[in-house]
Amino acid sequence: NNPPWPAYRGYHEYSFAHATMHSRLPTILGKAIEDATRTLNEESLEERVVDLAQCIDRMEELMADLSGNAKLRPIVDDGEADVITWNKEITKFFRALDPGKDFMSAPWLFAEAYKYRRLRECFSVSKFWNTYDVFYRQKNDTFSRSSEAVFELAMRFAEPGLISKTTHPNQKELDAQRLIFLELTQVCLWGNSTDLSLLINMTEDQIRSLQSTGGEHLAATEQNILGNDMERIWETVKSIRETKADHRRIDFVLDNAGFELYCDFIYADFLIQSGLATEIRFHGKRYPWFVSDVTKKDWDWLINNMCYGHLFPEASPAEMQALRLLAQRWKQYERDGKWIYEQHPFWCTGYTYWDLHSEAPDLFFHLSHSDLVLFKGDLNHRKLTYDCAAPASTPFEEAIGPMASASGAPKIVSLRTVKSDVVVGLGPNGNEIAKRLDDQEPGWKISGKYAVVLLSEGRPG
Ligand code: F6P
Ligand code: MG
Repeated sequence: NNPPWPAYRGYHEYSFAHATMHSRLPTILGKAIEDATRTLNEESLEERVVDLAQCIDRMEELMADLSGNAKLRPIVDDGEADVITWNKEITKFFRALDPGKDFMSAPWLFAEAYKYRRLRECFSVSKFWNTYDVFYRQKNDTFSRSSEAVFELAMRFAEPGLISKTTHPNQKELDAQRLIFLELTQVCLWGNSTDLSLLINMTEDQIRSLQSTGGEHLAATEQNILGNDMERIWETVKSIRETKADHRRIDFVLDNAGFELYCDFIYADFLIQSGLATEIRFHGKRYPWFVSDVTKKDWDWLINNMCYGHLFPEASPAEMQALRLLAQRWKQYERDGKWIYEQHPFWCTGYTYWDLHSEAPDLFFHLSHSDLVLFKGDLNHRKLTYDCAAPASTPFEEAIGPMASASGAPKIVSLRTVKSDVVVGLGPNGNEIAKRLDDQEPGWKISGKYAVVLLSEGRPG
């Protein structure tokens, strides 16, 4: 049940695995400790102060384990729904003659996810700080720093008139819908390039240039989509609308909070208004994950802030009104059950999605009822593809294994800006394309400049 290529590991010095395990993760954890310390210094009640200080002690222990490349120990039973799943996998490392895996020798994906699970444990065993999110401040910041793109989209899409509501559009309406679909697919895609874990030190100007959403800019960035199934995806959603009269469900397996989630919402709003979907299910994380991933609190924060907040003192009344209009419509979708937030424990484990059907059969069954599942971002792409050294010419459906071939596999789209080693789905000349980029643009796999938009047709159950 495994692919024929080796999974990346921290000791692979040629890969981003090494830089991540060796320096990025300690830096991220260091910032998390700074955040908790700031909160500690603001707290007044003794029992809360003592409790938080203990959380910080546990974070320091984790830092020592990470920097000292300790063996991965089992997760403490903290009542989370995923403890058994985590420990089942960790125990496997200690089998037979194997003395156990450490942060560098375990598969990169697993070891990196394990770090976030251990971070969760620092807080989950506490009395007062169980729900504390060490990344919350940073997540909110990215949205407020993205004002230009936020209002450009709000001013265009707040008024629903732009999108023809009929589910049986004439050719002209269909052509217009196709163009908006392709544009917003790109907006949703590139929203992923601003995630916090990589771009922590960006200037406002750099963020602005990454996020500009104008037509010309999108035409230029389309050239950076190295594997591009967007037209096929349009044909797919169109045919779902033509063939399914009553109920059309699209799922988003979310990635990052703030600006990326806002772009996801703009896209999902269009899918509902155009009748391409009647229901959207969003899958988020149960606790802080890979710095910027969406939790329910981030979801609520975004919509409520758009509705009632004062985050953009420079914005004009018309711009604020547009933002509010969007948020009110989105709240209504939630009330009507058209938008549904879910958080299955499997999303916060170290498994790749090659194991989804066997380790979380209920979730696989649930997803198999979707008409299309959109996976956002780099980590989801790594999980889909087993995070292994597959050649760039490997077809996407081969690279995702059981997620394409198991009975009941849904149609799947990966919308991913390339931020790590695994790259597949570039077509028959993929290996040459990757080789040329390796030669001409070292670092192209972690810059977020390139992307893939790949479709798997699924396999009816
Ligand atoms: O730390 C590595 C990583 O998992 C990369 O894959 C990527 O740089 C980042 O973290 C997460 O990116 P995303 O938010 O797009 O999944
Ligand atoms: Mg993320």
